[in-house]
Amino acid sequence: MKSTAGASFSAHRAAASRTRVLVVGDVMLDRYWFGEVERISPEAPVPVVRIARNEERPGGAANVARNAAALGAQVTLISVVGDDEPGQALERLLVADHVRTSLHRDAAVPTTVKLRVIGRQQQLLRIDFETTPSHEVLATKLADYERTLPDFDVVVLSDYGKGGLAHIARMIELSRARGTPVLVDPKGEDYLRYRGATMLTPNRVEFRQVAGRWRNEAELATKAQSMRSELALEALLITRAEEGMSLFTAEGALHIPAQAREVFDVSGAGDTVIATLGVLLGAGADFASAVRIANQAAGIVVGKLGTAVVHPEELG
Ligand SMILES: Nc1ncnc2c1ncn2[C@@H]1O[C@H](COP(=O)(O)OP(=O)(O)OP(=O)(O)O)[C@@H](O)[C@H]1O
Ligand SMILES: [Mg+2]
Repeated sequence: MKSTAGASFSAHRAAASRTRVLVVGDVMLDRYWFGEVERISPEAPVPVVRIARNEERPGGAANVARNAAALGAQVTLISVVGDDEPGQALERLLVADHVRTSLHRDAAVPTTVKLRVIGRQQQLLRIDFETTPSHEVLATKLADYERTLPDFDVVVLSDYGKGGLAHIARMIELSRARGTPVLVDPKGEDYLRYRGATMLTPNRVEFRQVAGRWRNEAELATKAQSMRSELALEALLITRAEEGMSLFTAEGALHIPAQAREVFDVSGAGDTVIATLGVLLGAGADFASAVRIANQAAGIVVGKLGTAVVHPEELG
């Protein structure tokens, strides 16, 4: 596989703006409370933080959706939130980022929130609120998915292991039956549920958990190709942090080195990768071009603080 003219975003920009992307998965709200530490608590040997400001960002599948929207695509997000203030905050942030939302409010669960308390420039504590959504809500979500699928060019399933993708095998089956490409960012050890996906995008740690260690590139390729055929995937993309990424298809392997000039914050790079791939494959790009551009986008996003997005102007 060689580099082609299709490997620049501008060649796909017009098509990308017409591409309808459906994102489904676990959403969360990333919250940051910043404050001053002036004393130790009289109640327990812990610092007292006086909160001065806060920030919030969409996380998980919501971050994938806003990354796809930032590239100009028409994005809809199906997910489950609680019937609470963080759920409303998430919806508000997504609307501001031009994502169309189809959020099921499940009164029985809290919206997943990761709250970081930061004082003296360091994270002092992270507090997680999360519960698996109910079966009834997940069933409604599947029905929603099935009904709306014909309106989309590509599906991105972002599994954060919070239980929101209980019906993922059926979702993949439904989109493949229509010929709609379906990309999956996996989590956990049961990869059989991803069988038949167009493309799977584990990072190297996730891949190693499932496929075991490799001693050299040849062994990695053997493991990757055997997973690809066992799971009937068209493509397997292993993202390898500072080592870049490796694409495995029926044509063979394509290795692309990391492009980052400066690395400030690697969190969310995987979300940018799958969002960019989704937009491009939905716009008709080939795997190799889509992966090269996704690698370029990831190289830009790790140079920004916080879970950030990349815009078409930055890709050239
Ligand atoms: N330290 C780094 N230096 C250069 N590029 C990086 C670095 N970390 C990530 N990248 C870029 O981002 C891509 C995705 O990163 P990574 O493999 O860490 O995904 P990930 O673990 O799923 O990310 P996350 O879960 O934090 O969103 C890499 O393939 C590479 O292009
Ligand atoms: Mg990831």
